Parts: sequence; C-alpha cells; structure tokens
Amino acid sequence: MAKNGADSETEMGVNTRLAHIGYNPRDYHGFVNPPVVHASTVLYPDAATLVSRGQKYTYGTHGTPTSDALAKAVDALEGSAGTVMVPSGLAAVTLPLLAFASAGDHVLIVDSVYGPTRHFADTMLTQLGVEVQYYDPRIGAGIEALMRPNTTVVFTESPCSNTFEMQDIPAIAKAAHAGGAVVMIDNTWATPLYFRPLEHGVDISIHAATKYPAGHSDVLLGTVSANEACWPKLDAAFSALGLCAGPDDVYQVLRGLRTMGVRLEHHRKSALEIATWLEGQPAVARVLHPALASHPDHALWKRDFSGSSGVFSIVLAGGGQKEQHAFLDALTIFGLGYSWAGYESLAVPVFLGDRTVMKEKYEGPLIRLQIGLEDVEDLKADIARGLAAIA
Ligand SMILES: Cc1ncc(COP(=O)(O)O)c(C=O)c1O
Repeated sequence: MAKNGADSETEMGVNTRLAHIGYNPRDYHGFVNPPVVHASTVLYPDAATLVSRGQKYTYGTHGTPTSDALAKAVDALEGSAGTVMVPSGLAAVTLPLLAFASAGDHVLIVDSVYGPTRHFADTMLTQLGVEVQYYDPRIGAGIEALMRPNTTVVFTESPCSNTFEMQDIPAIAKAAHAGGAVVMIDNTWATPLYFRPLEHGVDISIHAATKYPAGHSDVLLGTVSANEACWPKLDAAFSALGLCAGPDDVYQVLRGLRTMGVRLEHHRKSALEIATWLEGQPAVARVLHPALASHPDHALWKRDFSGSSGVFSIVLAGGGQKEQHAFLDALTIFGLGYSWAGYESLAVPVFLGDRTVMKEKYEGPLIRLQIGLEDVEDLKADIARGLAAIA
C-alpha cells in the first residue's frame, strides 16, 4: 500500500505538500505559479557587484527563479541539500558519474542498470580512464568483497531496469561508505514518494524527471539531488559542464509535480491489478513486479519502499522472438515505444544481451509493460489480445 498519509517532516500529507512545495506565491505578486524566466544575461547595479557576483542571480546557467522553485521542491521531497536540473534523465546519470569518478578510479555499477547508463560507463567513462565493474543486484553487503582502495562510486538502481531485482540499499551503502565511496541511485522508478534514498544511506539521488514528474511523454528533464557532503562537488561539476535545462521544461516538470501523487496512485493501483491478473494467465510464466508477494525480493521492497509504480515485466511461458513480437503486434491500446510513466500505456521487448554478471534463465522472452492512466478493463482486454496472438 502506498503510504500517502502524514509526512515525517511536516506532518502534512504528500498531496498537500506536492501542491505547495518549492514556491511561495507571495514571491511573485501572488500568482500561484512561478514565472518562467528565459535568461542568459542578468544585470548588476554597479561594477563592484558585477565583479564580486554579489547578488542572488548571476547568469542564466547558474539558476533562475524558475529553476530554484523546482530545485527546492525536489529537495523537499528527497530531503537533499541541493538539486540541479539537467536536460534529460540520462544527463542526470552522467553528470554525477563525471563529478565523482576520475582517471584511475574504480566504479561499481549494478549489472541490470538502465541500458544507456551502461553504454556511458563502457564508452566515455572508460575512455576517461575509469575502471568500471558490474555487480549482481542481489549482492547486498557482499559488495564489500568488490571494494578496492580506489573505488570512488557505487552506482545502484532499485528496482533494476527491465528485470526489477531489488537491491539492499542500506547494506550496500554501509559497505560502500566503509570503503570511502559515494553511493548513487537512479531512483526514477519509485520517485521520492515511494522511496527516499538519502534516508537509507545514499548520497546522490538521480531522477529521469521525464517520467512521473513530467508524466505526459512530452518533456525531457533530469534531476540530481545530493546530501550536504556531496552537494559542493556536484554543483561545481554542474557549473563546469554548463548542463543546465531550459526554463520551459523546468516549468513543465514543476507543473507535473503538482499532480504526481494523484497520477502515481492511479498507476500504482492499475499496475498491481494487472500484474496480479497476469500471474493467473497460462501464457505467462512469471510477473517481475516487486510489490507482488511472489517476487523473490518482495521482503526488501516491503521493508524500504512505501509504494510501487506502474512499470513491470512479464516472462512468457516459453517461445522466443516470434511469440514476443506476436504479443506486441496484437496490442491496440498499448503503444510500442520507449520511455514510461506517461499517461498512456506502452510495451517494449526486453533485451538482456548486455548483461555480464546476471545470467538468470527465464522461461521465455520478456516484455516490459508501462501501465498508463487508461481504464484497467480496457488494458486487460488489450493484453488478452496479445496473449491470444501467442497461442
Ligand atoms: C531508469 C531510467 N533512468 C534514466 C532514464 C533516462 O531518462 P531520459 O529518457 O530522460 O534520458 C530512463 C529512461 O527510460 C530510465 O528508464
């Protein structure tokens, strides 16, 4: 169950907080939304102030009232000391890795990580002289054995992309910190409404705000939030790279946050209902959704998370690409396309060929389902069409 009740910090419910965090209407003539500030140049009143940069806003890349509103809102949700906004979720992954890994360092990344994160690690990070090693998502405290004196980053994602293994984040964070490494998480699946990583030992929380915060498949944005200790280094890398996001996209994500709790609750309920129904379908061998009691890591999800979102995978009971494509091609409501967390349902075939550590055998091909805001009975009927096409 999602715990949408009292918030530990403010005693207010999460939807109340989402409606008000980040911005005080009194700061801008009472308008309930902040201004969308399009800015490069900011003027200074005199030469001394200009030279010392002695005012709150100094240049468009270093923040505006619009980006401050979203950063403050995300800080309130994550419990972080600072947040930066970047032009995509992938940039939200690459920025902290560039900030905290240097030539000669060793970085540990979970094997079932989001594919483009892996691609970045295997190409740019490796070219820069960083040694990348992948680890089993279920390693838990055992990660201690992989730590080296030069391990500077442990990168996690929970649940993992496409196969939805849960990671024991507190155990991994404890071992990583004992070895002096910074712990990062791609927290996109849970959003800070269902998992607050900094309370579980994580130093840097990453979001593809493209997903639930934006929610309408029309905006690309990433956020990176850090605790007190990591914030100065993250902020310095953000400034050095000039990776700031555009004001319209930042505004759209702040707008999306206001309704995220309501949307997410609908995604959560529909996805769980469909996942439970799919467990009873003979053409489906397994449903990979951590909130199902049948999931091998269900206990970890229950211990650390307060809700589940709307994307999960199914394993077909046998067959191969022919059956996988037959299922996908029979769908009429689910679109075939990448990304997730928008209002519309999507399905994609899962590719597992890049994994180097996880060698789990599945009964058949995998399909990832993103459950949108449509009516559940219509979505079930569409999936039933897909399952019938396999037969
Ligand atoms: C877990 C995860 N992280 C990051 C991203 C990247 O987000 P974006 O599409 O905004 O680059 C995605 C996108 O699918 C994702 O699934």
